[in-house]
Amino acid sequence: MNMPDLCIAKDRKKTEIKYIYNDKEYQPLFKNKKYFLRTYGCQMNVHDSEEIKFYLEALGFEATEVLEKADIVVLNTCAIRENAKDKVYGYLGRCKHLKQEKPDLIICLCGCLVQEPHEVEELKNKHKYVDIIIGTHNIHELPELIMKNNHYQDIEVYSNSDEVYENVKYKRDSKVCAWINITYGCDKFCTYCIVPFTRGRERSRKMENILEEVKELKKEGYQEVTLLGQNVNAYGKDLGLNYDFATLLEEVAKIGIPRIRFVTSHPWNFTDEMIDVIAKYDNIMPYVHLPIQSGSDEILKKMNRKYTIEEYKTLFNKIKEKVKNVAITTDIIVGFPNETDADFKATLDIVKYCQFDNAFTFIYSPRVGTLAAQMEDKIPYEVKQERLKKLNELVNSYSLKSNQKLLGKIVKVLVTEESEKDKNKVCGYTETMKLVNIVGNKDLIGKIIDVEITSAKSFSLDGIVKSLKD
Ligand code: 5AD
Ligand code: SF4
Repeated sequence: MNMPDLCIAKDRKKTEIKYIYNDKEYQPLFKNKKYFLRTYGCQMNVHDSEEIKFYLEALGFEATEVLEKADIVVLNTCAIRENAKDKVYGYLGRCKHLKQEKPDLIICLCGCLVQEPHEVEELKNKHKYVDIIIGTHNIHELPELIMKNNHYQDIEVYSNSDEVYENVKYKRDSKVCAWINITYGCDKFCTYCIVPFTRGRERSRKMENILEEVKELKKEGYQEVTLLGQNVNAYGKDLGLNYDFATLLEEVAKIGIPRIRFVTSHPWNFTDEMIDVIAKYDNIMPYVHLPIQSGSDEILKKMNRKYTIEEYKTLFNKIKEKVKNVAITTDIIVGFPNETDADFKATLDIVKYCQFDNAFTFIYSPRVGTLAAQMEDKIPYEVKQERLKKLNELVNSYSLKSNQKLLGKIVKVLVTEESEKDKNKVCGYTETMKLVNIVGNKDLIGKIIDVEITSAKSFSLDGIVKSLKD
């Protein structure tokens, strides 16, 4: 048993990173058994779930979308805000009932929520029917934990890590777009954020291993890779070598995979070299997700974001100027402790200035262990809700405006899947990451096609096929 610990999670002792090659083989001991997997939260979790799926299928489990048919339920959880946690406990209630009818059911919780000591305490005391609790640093141990589980609660959560696993195998959700981890963890410690605690210290994969993975994916026919990290522009800083994110991005671009994306960028240390590389290569998509979080310098300081609004504007303008037709999206938090009306107005002002292509907006949610959770906060929740509503109206008006600019234009779309709502349609993304619904059949999936945009809403576009690119 290994319980999480916030002091260890906070520690940034710079021991050398160990690179570990995982060549384990698994026996399909659970043939004719089914797994039910739910994923909450960010792209990092979505990609971790692809690793989890690989292990489950290597052990012989088959996927089911019906909870009642499952022999193992895995919930890959998120801790970023309270509502993410509520969803998990809602599902756990259903699992508890199911287990009363099906005592052999294995229930497994993994992901960021179980990196929090108070949550694991609660699971230990009030949710004893959860069989396996496994953290973000040791997903590779899942097969062993499943094999040895005997319906006693097994808690294996480590709080920090100086390891990077290579040779990780995935059952990828898509045959068109692939996620690639380039860094793990985060050292930024924005005062509201739990991620540096749940994902541990920042550690980079070696460039040669990333490039190898990109080449392999290209060979398999993938059209797009997204380089993943909590803070991609910190890539390489821990390696003590003479390369950084700009170098990596350029090397990935040279491999010639048709589309490259990266998330998430921090406005601090977003270098000119990075902008130049994005501008130079046609296969690096003109799309930057650049979280601003607040429009107020005072709040940014309290958030420990390490930039001012003037600096953000300078960077924003530089990217707009140098990268042709670039789309910039952002994240914004309202209701940070004691955010004044003037602070909030400054947030509305920066949104008006930047006119983001899209913005993900949140009400601040205190996280146990973070600095912000200890700050005094006199702002009533209703005021925060009102601010969010106002902000969303503004943000959506700019999303609509930026989508409407494409009306009648012909844009390149990578078709990724069939539309869930309409079987006569497929959907895909423009270079600038805008979702387009297109009349057409699934033969288009995996192709980059010219599409004429016929209608624009705040969150999506409709279009018709103009021509197929070879
Ligand atoms: N409360 C609300 N939003 C948060 N985010 C991170 N932590 C919190 C929190 N405690 C938001 C930030 C981040 C995005 C992924 O989630 O905007 O960029
Ligand atoms: Fe959280 Fe800040 Fe790290 Fe992003 S950069 S994961 S917001 S601490």
